[in-house]
Amino acid sequence: MSLIADLDALLAEAQGLLAAAADSATVEALRAKYIGRKGILPEMMGRLAGLTPAEKPEAGKAVNRAKTGVQAALDAAVERLGGGARAGHAVDVTLPGRQRTLGRKHPITLVLDDTVAIFRRMGFLVAEGPEIETVYNNFDALNTPDDHPSRDPQDTFYFPDGRILRTQTSPVQIRVMQTTKPPIRIVCPGRVFRRDTPDATHGMNFHQIEGLYVDRNVTLADLKGTMAEFARELCGADAKIRFRPHFFPFTEPSVECDFSCIICGGKGCRVCKQSGWLEIAGAGMVNPKVFTSCGIDPEEWTGYAFGFGIERIAMIRYAINDLRLLYENDVRFLHQF
Ligand code: DAH
Repeated sequence: MSLIADLDALLAEAQGLLAAAADSATVEALRAKYIGRKGILPEMMGRLAGLTPAEKPEAGKAVNRAKTGVQAALDAAVERLGGGARAGHAVDVTLPGRQRTLGRKHPITLVLDDTVAIFRRMGFLVAEGPEIETVYNNFDALNTPDDHPSRDPQDTFYFPDGRILRTQTSPVQIRVMQTTKPPIRIVCPGRVFRRDTPDATHGMNFHQIEGLYVDRNVTLADLKGTMAEFARELCGADAKIRFRPHFFPFTEPSVECDFSCIICGGKGCRVCKQSGWLEIAGAGMVNPKVFTSCGIDPEEWTGYAFGFGIERIAMIRYAINDLRLLYENDVRFLHQF
């Protein structure tokens, strides 16, 4: 039968030529000639279809013999001519190595890390609490009135079991005061959630850092000193702070704390809307009702608390004008930090 004879002759011819090949270009040309897509062997295999069923088994065996034989002769030739370095695929050892891109810290993490480090140097310990909280810890124990709008399902994410995604890091104060005897000096960094429509300055989740100091004879002056020191550490020796009266249910008196503008140093610019000041934190003296709800005697203990938005500090520090940039994970943005 001629196909079998042809195949055996083809194998013998290929073996002879490959054994004599003097360079890898010749070997590659022979590879294409015999087993390439338009090579002789694939073409001969097409002829199998025209055989009778009785002829097919023997012819099939001859095809396999030719295929493995040619492949083995190719491998042997490649090996003989310097192993693996096929024509056009030679390894160029003078090429520079491939650069791996290094990961880096996200701007939120940078601000959180710096903020925590500053407070740790001032003697604060880090406390953390869960993101899923009870209404009691997030609102009731913090003296939030029953009809306060922040409790509304329009503003707060409720679970079917009545628990919520915490809307602030203040409930960590409650957890720590319920379980720790004063003196207490903690900061509580973490993620919080509010049912806002996302825009340039609002997100459905963001980060806060809460501070709490409880001891005997703590005064508003201690709070002011701590805030001023924090502002200097974060923004430089010339940074100033000011307090404006405000209201929070969990502190009395309550203040909003402004920092002199990080961008213009207080002269007035677009970021501070020409005022020279940036609203940074809420703070105040711990409301006696909050102490009582945690089993701490307000006649014996006093304290201050404060809360910052981390995204706000990051946006000012890095001159970011849209909060959403912080969550899109676009490497062109992240690469800049
Ligand atoms: N929890 C407040 C908020 O989310 C921030 C805050 C204000 C925290 C005053 C405090 C504080 O501890 O004393 O707006």
